[in-house]
Amino acid sequence: MAEQLKARMTVDREFKIGEIDKRLYGSFIEHLGRAVYGGIYEVDHPDSTEEGFRTDVIELVKELQVPIVRYPGGNMVSAYNWEDGVGPISERPKKLELAWRVIEPNYVGTNEFAEWARLADTEVMMAVNLGTRGIDAARNLLEYCNHPKGSYWSDLRRNHGYKEPHKIKTWCLGNEMDGPWQVGHKTANEYGRLALETAKAMRLVDPSIELVACGSSSAQMPTFPEWEATILDHTYEEVDYLSLHQYYGNRSGDTANYLAKTLEMNDFIKTVVATCDYIKAKKRSKKTMHLSFDEWNVWFHSNQADREIEPWSVAPPQLEDVYTFEDALLVGSILMTLVRNADRVKMACMAQLVNVIAPIMTETGGSAWRQTIFYPYMHVSVFGRGTSLHPVISSPKYDSKEFTDVPYLDSAVVWNEEKDELTIFMLNRHLEEGLEVNVDIRSFEEYKLKEHIVLENDDLKAVNTAISQPVKPHTNGHSTVNDGYLQVQAPKASWHVIRLGK
Ligand code: AHR
Repeated sequence: MAEQLKARMTVDREFKIGEIDKRLYGSFIEHLGRAVYGGIYEVDHPDSTEEGFRTDVIELVKELQVPIVRYPGGNMVSAYNWEDGVGPISERPKKLELAWRVIEPNYVGTNEFAEWARLADTEVMMAVNLGTRGIDAARNLLEYCNHPKGSYWSDLRRNHGYKEPHKIKTWCLGNEMDGPWQVGHKTANEYGRLALETAKAMRLVDPSIELVACGSSSAQMPTFPEWEATILDHTYEEVDYLSLHQYYGNRSGDTANYLAKTLEMNDFIKTVVATCDYIKAKKRSKKTMHLSFDEWNVWFHSNQADREIEPWSVAPPQLEDVYTFEDALLVGSILMTLVRNADRVKMACMAQLVNVIAPIMTETGGSAWRQTIFYPYMHVSVFGRGTSLHPVISSPKYDSKEFTDVPYLDSAVVWNEEKDELTIFMLNRHLEEGLEVNVDIRSFEEYKLKEHIVLENDDLKAVNTAISQPVKPHTNGHSTVNDGYLQVQAPKASWHVIRLGK
């Protein structure tokens, strides 16, 4: 009989990486496909509120405890006139939406989204258009949203029925401005200057806001990381975060290689951190730049279907990836990578939230359900609040097509000191064998096992649909605690949440 594969890990209350900002577990709703129309908003749906918000979707968003949602784009924001989306709905214009080549009816705009966010217990992360527009539109939108009253734009909001300001704290200065596909694409110097001047004007309107400058659209962009250095050279003292975006896919069908993609994600984060610190040194600045990984997910299943969509319809089914069990494993690994970088990555957004490359799917007029990736996202969002601890791992490794020395064991650890709870997230990347993991938790005296949640499935390609949801977690995980050591049995290709407490 082959010997059991074993790994070791040490978790210590002194090995602190940093405090986790809850906004690390954010998401994203773009006016794209059925994210808004047929997703969060559907006037004729039997479960909708008077305003047209689907309560079945809101319930699922609440289950995820999403702390912040980026809006309204994405690529869409770069040609968006926010004024089209406020005021009486019947008077709003229908426009050609250039990023996704659809008709935007503008039934939902700034106020409706702020209202939806209140119902869903979340915060808005607002993006301004720095593609076709600039300083003026951005400062007017901010005045409309956040100024209490007594000015043209704030009084207009009040006339539109929203007496109280929306108090939106987090603002993105455009979207993916390095991408040639972006309407109003800019060179690094053009964008850097515009972002700086927009930031200055916006801070004059409301000094309490936090601002995110656009980093690269992916680590594969030819301008990465020179783009980051140039943008920060212009904006360093005026912005609070630099963004990162990255999507993953298993196009070649090589799952071992796919599950190792988070090694590349980790390198991406470290390179952006190094670039920020280089500019900090160059400027002799006292300020440390934080990161906002405000678009990440698996995105590839829907690519072919999207090529077949005719332009200029309203809310076609775009980017509707149906996620497999193996995608959920990678999403767990992505979330753990974010947690392990929580000292510098303060915000992140799973892109997106409903229907469009999303954990929640709906049928227009029908039900809403949890895709496979819903579960690791929910687990880390709900149980990953507190301090990120550095897990010292000793694991057998493998080589894949693109990566060498990939540890079979992937893990992240969060200590919630207030609640006296320790949560260990784990992934066994091995596709054929179980892993026995021995964890030294001696610094957590008196901590006992509370729950061991497992997501596993014999079929890596299993999916959840409206009628059947075979991929869902159970709480029958095998683990024990003895004399300060936690012993975990992690079956092949499985995701774990091990909750300990006093
Ligand atoms: O999330 C889908 C798209 O991906 C966004 O609109 C864009 O910012 C990115 O390229």
